[in-house]
Amino acid sequence: MGEYKDPNRRDFIYIAAGAGAAGAAAMAAIPLIGQMNPAADTLALASIEYDLSKVAEGQQVVVKWRGKPLFVRYRTPKEIKEAQDADWKTFRDPQPDSDRVKKGHEQYLILVGVCTHLGCVPNFGAGEYGGWFCPCHGSQYDTSGRIRQGPAPKNLEVPDYTFLSDTKIKVG
Ligand code: FES
Repeated sequence: MGEYKDPNRRDFIYIAAGAGAAGAAAMAAIPLIGQMNPAADTLALASIEYDLSKVAEGQQVVVKWRGKPLFVRYRTPKEIKEAQDADWKTFRDPQPDSDRVKKGHEQYLILVGVCTHLGCVPNFGAGEYGGWFCPCHGSQYDTSGRIRQGPAPKNLEVPDYTFLSDTKIKVG
């Protein structure tokens, strides 16, 4: 009997290691699956209105839009200046701050809050550039939502939106 115990034990260890690896792969896939939920076709048409007076200077509010988080940020003068003065031509996804905000409303930055690497939600105000830090793999965005460091290939997306009044926007 003793002869059969050892092979069984090795089998068990082998299977457990395999299950562990599959679990890790499934965890990594979650951010992607989250964006492909079946309701996406109906949600795709939805637009929302948002009252910007609800956001305090230096803060952001996260609104749900088409199944994704939407970052509505009221930037401080310092954050705006940093975003405008940065040497954007050297960036991975080169874009001036003026292309990412509406003229005359530079204090407001409206972004889809989904990391362009693998779809996690970046943390507000964190990271070296004062914008956002994605905890999943360390992407860092600046106060214009541009990728500055880490694996993300693109800037945080600016959705289509318009100002309906000085304090009201329509997104989508
Ligand atoms: Fe990988 Fe954000 S999902 S850095």
